[in-house]
Amino acid sequence: MTADHVEESRGPRPERILGIETSCDETAVGVVEDGTVVRSSVVASQVDLHARFGGVVPEIASRAHLELVNPVIAEALVEAGAEIGDLSAVAACCGPGLAGSLLVGVSAAKAIALVAGIPYVGVNHLEAHLYAAFCEEPDLEPPLAVLLVSGGHTMIVSMEGHGRYRLLGQTVDDAAGEAFDKVARLLGLGYPGGPAIDRVATVGNPEAVNFPRPMLDEGYDFSFSGLKTAVATYLRREPDAEVADVAASFQDAVVDVCITKLLRAAAAVEAKTVVIGGGVAANSRLRTRLLDEVEADGRRAFLPSPSLCTDNGAMIAAAAWWRLRSDGPTPLDGGAYPGLRLPTVD
Ligand code: KG4
Ligand code: ZN
Repeated sequence: MTADHVEESRGPRPERILGIETSCDETAVGVVEDGTVVRSSVVASQVDLHARFGGVVPEIASRAHLELVNPVIAEALVEAGAEIGDLSAVAACCGPGLAGSLLVGVSAAKAIALVAGIPYVGVNHLEAHLYAAFCEEPDLEPPLAVLLVSGGHTMIVSMEGHGRYRLLGQTVDDAAGEAFDKVARLLGLGYPGGPAIDRVATVGNPEAVNFPRPMLDEGYDFSFSGLKTAVATYLRREPDAEVADVAASFQDAVVDVCITKLLRAAAAVEAKTVVIGGGVAANSRLRTRLLDEVEADGRRAFLPSPSLCTDNGAMIAAAAWWRLRSDGPTPLDGGAYPGLRLPTVD
C-alpha cells in the first residue's frame, strides 16, 4: 500500500486551528479540529493579580499576557499532541477588548502564521462566544435564539446561519456580568463577583428580597444599573441582611429577566433551540432554571460547559474555522479593535 493509500484510508487530515484569547484577564489558548473537536483548552487566569484592585487593571493585564502567552501556547500544543507544523491556521481574538491585551494575542498569532506559513484569522470575541456551543454540539441548526451574557456585553441575538446574526436587544447600561461584579463588591464578596455570588447564593433564599426586574415586559433590551442601585439601597436600609439571601435574590432577578427575554426572542424568531454564551452563562442558577423553563416552553436549550462559556481559546479556534471558510484568511496588517461589534444584519 502506498503512502497515498494510507492517507486515504484514514480520511482527510483534520484542519487543526490554534486559537489565542487575550482580550481581558485570561491568557487562553485552545486547539480545535474542524471547528468542533476540542483537542486542548488551556486558561491561565490573572485573577490573583487583579483581585486586590477589585477589577481588571489594563496595564497589568497586558504585561501578564506578554509573560504568559508563549508558555500557554506551548502547553495547549502539548495537550493537543500537536506541533506548530501540524496547524492549518492560527487565530487570535482581535476585539472587542483591552487594546494592549488584544495586541499581545494578535501579535503572537501573526508571528506563528509567518513562521509556519499558515493563514492568520482575526476573530471577533462576541462571535467566538456564540461558537463555543458548536464545539460540543456541531449539529445545532439555525435559527438559534442566543443569550450572550459576559462582563462587557449582554445581548440577544438571532443566529440565522453561520456568520449571520440579527441583534434583537442589548443592555442600555451595565452588562449582566458587570452587575454581578458590582453587587459582589457591595456584598463584600470580592472579585471576580459572578462566581462568588453563584457560590454564596446556593445557600440563600431567592425570594428573601423582591428586587426589581428591569424592563421585564419590554422587548429584548436589558438594564441592570437600576437593579444594582436597588441592592445598594436595600443594603443601606438593612445593613445586617443575610448576604446569601441578598445574593440569591439579586441573582434570581437577573435570571428572570434573561430567561423571559430569551424565550420571547425564541418565540418571535421561531427558534426551536436556544443557546447561551459568555461568562455569566456559567451561572448555575441560570443554567438549571433555563433548562426547566425552556423545556416547559416546548423548546430545547443547549448550554455549553461552563469552561467554554467563560473566556477560552477553543472558542476562538472554533469561530476561526467558520470564518476561514466564509471570508478566507485575515491580512497580516489586520489590527486589534477594542470597540469591535458583532457583525449583524439589519
Ligand atoms: O465572558 P467572560 O469570561 O469575559 C468577558 O468577555 O467579559 O465573562 C466574565 C464575566 C464576569 O463579569 C464574571 O463575574 C461573570 O462573567 N461570571 C459569572 C460566573 N462566572 C463568570 N457570573 C455569574 N455566575 C458565574 N458562575
Ligand atoms: Zn468573553
